Amino acid sequence: GSISPRSAANAPRPIDRPRRLRATPAMRRLVSETRLHPADLVLPMFVREGAGAPMPISSMPGVVQHTTESLKSAIAEAASAGIGGVMLFGVPEHKDAVGSGATDPDGILNVATRIAVAEAGDALVVQTDLCLDEFTDHGHCGVLDERGYVDNDASLQRYRDMAIAQVEAGSQLLGLSGMMDGQVASVRDALDEAGHTGTPILGYAAKYASAFYGPFREAVQSSLEGDRRTYQLDPANRREGAREIEFDVAEGADIVMVKPAMSYLDVLADAAASSPVPVWAYQVSGEYAMIEAAAAHGWIDRRRAIEESVVGIRRAGADAVLTYWAVELAGWIR
Ligand code: PBG
Repeated sequence: GSISPRSAANAPRPIDRPRRLRATPAMRRLVSETRLHPADLVLPMFVREGAGAPMPISSMPGVVQHTTESLKSAIAEAASAGIGGVMLFGVPEHKDAVGSGATDPDGILNVATRIAVAEAGDALVVQTDLCLDEFTDHGHCGVLDERGYVDNDASLQRYRDMAIAQVEAGSQLLGLSGMMDGQVASVRDALDEAGHTGTPILGYAAKYASAFYGPFREAVQSSLEGDRRTYQLDPANRREGAREIEFDVAEGADIVMVKPAMSYLDVLADAAASSPVPVWAYQVSGEYAMIEAAAAHGWIDRRRAIEESVVGIRRAGADAVLTYWAVELAGWIR
């Protein structure tokens, strides 16, 4: 408690007593500023081509690479948990330099999208990752030029085709996570040209080159060597994150994203204060793995840590949160 300036000098007792509102669970619940709701949670899901059974991901205990069969039951479970949506990632059997599987209507992500949409009905927003890294043999988010540098404008051409393939497979929200300059404008133009004016774009506007994507690389069996620092943001840069958000909004993004979440809450708060469109955050694979690993050692209370981490992301300004705990968390907070 603080000593208010209203106190007489000879009466040094707290005038302001904020502990009054912390005294009982009922009072704390009543004055809580930030609430979690299942509808604000999105579950990222991996679907593996040719898999005979769901495959555990060792660095993400509790998360699997789904088969197209196990995807169906997981979608049904997500729908009954009342979460807002799912974000699908494909793990193809064959990769090549241009990521052909991404634009093939029979590519795993497009197949999984059709299945998910059919299963979800109108209970979930089925979203797709629009990026080449799962489909390229070099593991980069775009195509390479002769020097091995990620070619921005050639990658945009691939994204345009990928967007059409995803919309035609039924995707209800395109998650543009490749971090090529101009990707939102380019994809919006391609969709307009094809008459697909109704599909919203989620721009991963402020996506940082992060060590916290580590477990994701196992999840999608990425073949990446090196890093993505020539296209994802430098973790040191806050102003640049704000600028990327502005660009994506100006290019027509319907929603913007900050990613990862926990190490970028300042960027998220900036975006929430200035963005005219919804701002989401992605609590990424490494954030998941850290809490799971510490909890497995008995070093932290798993449920409290999960709830606190997601409340923190919401408090900083995220309208919705992508989190691998979406379904489990929804079960706790309903
Ligand atoms: C790119 C993409 C990545 C993630 C989501 N979309 C990988 C990357 O940029 O290296 C990471 C998500 C996570 O770590 O949970 N397709």
